[in-house]
Amino acid sequence: MKIMPWAPATPADAVSLATLFQQVEAVTPVGLEQRADEVMARLAALGPQLGPQTRVGRDGDGAVVAYGEVAEMGEVDGVLRIRLANVVHPDAPSDVRAESYDWLLGQAEQVRQARGTAQTAVLGTRCAENDHVVRDLLIRHGFELTRHERDLVLALSEPLPAEVLPPGLVVEPVDERYQELARLAHNEAYADSPSAIQPDQRTWPAHAIAHPRFLPDLSCLVLAEVDEGENPVAGFLFALADDDDENPNVVLHCLGSRVPWRRRGLATAMITRSLRRARSAGFAQVRLQVSDSNPRALALYGKLGFVGSGRGYLVLTRRLGPDDS
Ligand SMILES: CC(C)(COP(=O)(O)OP(=O)(O)OC[C@H]1O[C@@H](n2cnc3c(N)ncnc32)[C@H](O)[C@@H]1OP(=O)(O)O)[C@@H](O)C(=O)NCCC(=O)NCCS
Repeated sequence: MKIMPWAPATPADAVSLATLFQQVEAVTPVGLEQRADEVMARLAALGPQLGPQTRVGRDGDGAVVAYGEVAEMGEVDGVLRIRLANVVHPDAPSDVRAESYDWLLGQAEQVRQARGTAQTAVLGTRCAENDHVVRDLLIRHGFELTRHERDLVLALSEPLPAEVLPPGLVVEPVDERYQELARLAHNEAYADSPSAIQPDQRTWPAHAIAHPRFLPDLSCLVLAEVDEGENPVAGFLFALADDDDENPNVVLHCLGSRVPWRRRGLATAMITRSLRRARSAGFAQVRLQVSDSNPRALALYGKLGFVGSGRGYLVLTRRLGPDDS
């Protein structure tokens, strides 16, 4: 397989990119989008200029067989976070992957320097837990293993506990009116999770509510009676359908309770509600991903009966700073 000259991705590549992502995901899953509309949303989230941030390599027939992406993910504590994606067809020559990492690192350095030469950045990328070749390659490129994202599943044939919320709290459907308050609650709940995305107002809808596979009936907010000016959103759960069109599963995509409301059964109640509705809607299985650095969530899911599927991935990071250029 020979790669033709590289070119920036365009929205017109979405179908070919989705095919590439499916081929890669079947062998080394890292959670890539599987449908053209999702790939389109991924490209749109990068902003109007795809040129410096993406490139595609095609085979002799014009099919996309390699994709590189450098995505700015916002700043946390003054450190710019940059996500790298290096997606290469399983049959592509092995040097394509290595050359792609060189390109990605060069582009990431340009993104960092555009913010000022003193800016520090952390690069993050994913590698399937079964992909030792890519893991070794990343380590040779200066990356370190940061966390292991586990994939957990629960069969909906299991009995479900009762949904019990403390007094003064109500479960509500996800509603336009609470869009901004839900975003603030999300960012507060995930504030101590260094790997979590902190969406801004522009990127928040695509995070869940406007996601093409969003499941509104299986998603919810927990609202509290609070004083004016306080955020009434105490907890949130956003569910998506997965990409298996024939036997779709529910994915518990994003879940949290704000700190003052923790350990009062909110997460358990939201998940149980979602599981019950998923079962009524005919879904057979629910899945989710959780980091091995999140013992609270691991305990929560373990208690509810979730077990590992073996399709997890590793996250590797590398610092990029003024001293490294
Ligand atoms: C994980 C999280 C959602 C739990 O929410 P919660 O509303 O406090 O959960 P619940 O009250 O329903 O807890 C249910 C069980 O989870 C486990 N659990 C929850 N928090 C725990 C903690 N701090 N330590 C140990 N176990 C914990 C316990 O088994 C608990 O049952 P118990 O209280 O009877 O012992 C919440 O801590 C959070 O929002 N964390 C940040 C965001 C996040 O990590 N989301 C999950 C991403 S995969």
